[in-house]
Order: sequence, then C-alpha cells, then structure tokens
Amino acid sequence: MKCLIAYCTRYGVTRETSNVIAETLKTNFDAEVDVLDLKEEKKRAKSIVPNDYDLVIVGSSIRIGRWTKEAKNFLKSNFENTRVAIFVSSGRCGQAIEDGDMSEYEKYEQKYIDKIAEKRDLKLFAKRGFGGRMERGGEVQSDTWNREHIVEWTQEVGKKLEKEISNA
Ligand SMILES: Cc1cc2nc3c(=O)[nH]c(=O)nc-3n(C[C@H](O)[C@H](O)[C@H](O)COP(=O)(O)O)c2cc1C
Repeated sequence: MKCLIAYCTRYGVTRETSNVIAETLKTNFDAEVDVLDLKEEKKRAKSIVPNDYDLVIVGSSIRIGRWTKEAKNFLKSNFENTRVAIFVSSGRCGQAIEDGDMSEYEKYEQKYIDKIAEKRDLKLFAKRGFGGRMERGGEVQSDTWNREHIVEWTQEVGKKLEKEISNA
C-alpha cells in the first residue's frame, strides 16, 4: 500500500503526529509512505499527484478555529481515484478526549473536519481530531497530545485499507 501524509503545522505538533502515523504504517503494514510538509516543501507539493496513492492523509494545525492555509488549499486537489483521510491537531479535541466528553469531541470534529470535507465534497475514508500543545515563553501551558491514540487510529486505518485493497 502506498500512502501520502500531507500536513501543515504552526507549532510542530502536526509534524510529530504525521511522523507517528508514517512510522506506524511502515512498521505494521509494510506501507510505502511519503510525508510532505506543505509549507516547507512548496515545490515538491506541486509535483505530487494524489491519485498515485492508495490513501492520502491530510493533517492541519487548528488555531482560532482555523485550518492552515496550505492544508486547506491542498484539499482542492483532485482526489477522484484515491481515498482521503483528515486529521487535525486541536487543543479542543484533545481536551474533550481527556475529559471523556465525547459529545464535546464530536462538536469540534464536526466544526474542524466535517464542515471542510463537506465544502470540498469529500467522502472521508477516516478522520480524527488529535490533541495539541500550547506553549508560552518556552513553558508548556497545555499538552493533550497522545501518541497511543495516534498509533491506535493508524492501525485501524491501515487494517481498513489493507482489507479494501485485498478485496479490490
Ligand atoms: C493562539 C492559539 C490559538 C489556538 N486556537 C485553537 C482553537 O481555536 N481550537 C483548538 O482546538 N485549538 C486551538 N489551539 C491549540 C492548537 O490546536 C495546538 O497548539 C496545536 O498543537 C496546534 O498544532 P501545531 O502544533 O501543529 O501548529 C490554539 C493554539 C494557539 C497557540
């Protein structure tokens, strides 16, 4: 299976999450994985053809309720012959999960993921709002990033993809 993880970060957490997803797909599913930083690798991003992949995972940082510009623009790509999954790094989603408040989590998943997918007419293969980290003056103010949650989600996604590919 061939996967692309295209992400955009402001403070670094979305990069960490992308790397955990990539490692999990490689280790557990022997997947071929390309990781693309949409802000730092603009030239490479232009040459990427999403349809060359079995799955494209798009990740964005959330700040003041907003996606990053580069990740949002990337969602305008042609995904006609591939599958698309979305994850966000979001303090609100991470806090809701820590609190075990799933209706609060769903509210933010809807706001940060479903809304944008609907706007781009994307039927998502998978989605997830992961936690984030906030620092001020070098001091961590809140940290809801959870490696295990990312590994678990990626294993679910990998299994689902493996099944679809073998049934095709
Ligand atoms: C100024 C600022 C505004 C933020 N606003 C939101 C927000 O509206 N909703 C949310 O879920 N998280 C919010 N966060 C938390 C971020 O989602 C978190 O810092 C995350 O790690 C950002 O991803 P990144 O590290 O990849 O940039 C905010 C963080 C900062 C610093």
